[in-house]
This record gives sequence, structure tokens and C-alpha cells, in this order.
Amino acid sequence: MTLTRFKGSYRAAVFGASGGLGSAFLRALDADPACIALGAASRRPERAPGKVAAIGFDLADEESIAEACAWFAKDGPLDLVLVATGILHDGGALQPEKALKSLTGEALARAFRINAAGPALIAKHALPLLAKDRGAVFAALSARVGSIADNALGGWHAYRASKAALNMLIRNAAIELARKDKTALCVTLHPGTADTALSRPFQGNVKPEKLFTPDDAAAKLLSVIDALTPARTGTLLAWDGTTIPF
Ligand SMILES: NC(=O)c1ccc[n+]([C@@H]2O[C@H](COP(=O)([O-])OP(=O)(O)OC[C@H]3O[C@@H](n4cnc5c(N)ncnc54)[C@H](OP(=O)(O)O)[C@@H]3O)[C@@H](O)[C@H]2O)c1
Repeated sequence: MTLTRFKGSYRAAVFGASGGLGSAFLRALDADPACIALGAASRRPERAPGKVAAIGFDLADEESIAEACAWFAKDGPLDLVLVATGILHDGGALQPEKALKSLTGEALARAFRINAAGPALIAKHALPLLAKDRGAVFAALSARVGSIADNALGGWHAYRASKAALNMLIRNAAIELARKDKTALCVTLHPGTADTALSRPFQGNVKPEKLFTPDDAAAKLLSVIDALTPARTGTLLAWDGTTIPF
């Protein structure tokens, strides 16, 4: 697909480029001829393909975030910044809690560090580098389970709470961004359930037609981004373009 919202060529960057969804975004943008510069930030930068300019960064290291942002924008302002980082489990001690009795301060702190503080710090350093008056977009992957209004099931305490915090931080960033550029947007996105390492242990109850390939999920989210109007800034949007209430 080709993104048309920038009315010509555009410059993009993906944080979390090594992940299931991050690498799918990278493939889609790499294949779009209108994307003339594509930055990829990850903890394993050597895995970046094609026309991609790769750099290392860690969400826990703000200086590395600032360096990556500055490097991506060295030849011109950015039109699109995608944050596809996140953690739900680590395959070991960190697992989504089924009940409050399993909650630990360590899990809460880690989830907030990676899922909320990290993307907010990327916004801090990336928003000043966005192209002006061109409908630039900063989008961070959140999750429907981070919606307080939508929470009827409970569980997954640390992950849910950290995504709710992310939604608030990005809403705040959107308000500041709109004061400088009324065409620019800051949003959070829910990809649906995509078949990645993050979701794999929890796909049991997902109907096959509701389990997206990472490439499908990325394409759907890029279509949502392409159609965004300024009125939707600061919101949480699902893969089908619907708004999920906070
Ligand atoms: N998959 C789904 O069904 C689903 C559903 C709802 C929401 N989401 C959200 O979508 C986003 C992407 O998830 P995914 O499914 O693509 O998961 P994934 O394949 O596990 O990718 C997670 C990414 O986050 C990166 N990351 C984790 N900690 C980091 C750190 N300290 N510094 C830098 N990067 C770090 C990982 O880097 P490394 O490769 O270096 O570990 C990886 O690139 C997450 O925010 C997730 O919550 C996913």
C-alpha cells in the first residue's frame, strides 16, 4: 500500500522494529515508494532490511531515544513516527496476572517503564521533530485492554494499567502538539490480536478469523493512519478505524 495523507513523499521512523508488529510496519513502509526515508530503532539494529536506516536504542535509556530521534530527523523532519514496542510477558517471571494476589511491584514498575514511560519519552523527543502543517502522525501501539471503560473481564493488572497510562500520556502529548500544529496528530492504536511472540501464549480463545498476521494488522493500522483527521488526535483507535473509549 502507499500512504497518501502526506500528498507525496514522506519520511518515517519505527521504534520497536525487531518486534512482530514493528517488523511488519517496517516491511510495509519499505515497500511504499512514497516513503523516501525510513528509520528503524530497536535493541537489535542489525536485523533491519532494505532501504532502512537502523539504529540501536533502549526504552529504559532516554539518551538513546533522543539520539535515535535526532538521527532519524537529521536530513529532514519526520512525517510519521510509529512506536511498536511493548511487553506483556517475558517468557519467565513476568506473566499477565490472573488475579490481584499475583501482582508484584516489580511487574507494575516494569510494565509502566516499558509500556507507558518509554513511548512517552519517545514522544517527548520525536514530536519537536515532526514536519509542520503536513498532517504528521505520531502513533504508539496500545491495546483495547488498556481501556478502563471497556474492562469487564479484569486480570492482566500491570499490562492493562500501563496501557491506560500510555493512553493518557499520549492524549496529553496530543493536546500540546495541537497548540503548535493543528494538522498533526498523536494517537494510540489497538492492532487486534496479531500472531506475534507477545500474544502467542494467549491465543487459545481467539477465533481464527480474529487472529491477524502481523502484516495484515500493520496494513490495517496504516490504513487507519492514512485516513486520520485532526479531530481524532489524542484518541485510541482500533484496527478497523473505530474509536475505543478510554
Ligand atoms: N500482538 C498482539 O496481539 C497485540 C495486541 C494488542 C496490543 N499489542 C501491542 O502491540 C505492540 C507490539 O507488540 P508485538 O505483538 O509486536 O510484540 P513483540 O513481537 O513482542 O514486540 C515487542 C517489541 O518491543 C520491544 N521492546 C521491549 N522492551 C524494549 C526495550 N526495553 N527497549 C526497546 N525495545 C523494547 C521488543 O524489542 P526486542 O526484540 O529487542 O525484545 C520488540 O521489538 C505492543 O505495545 C503490544 O502491547 C499487540
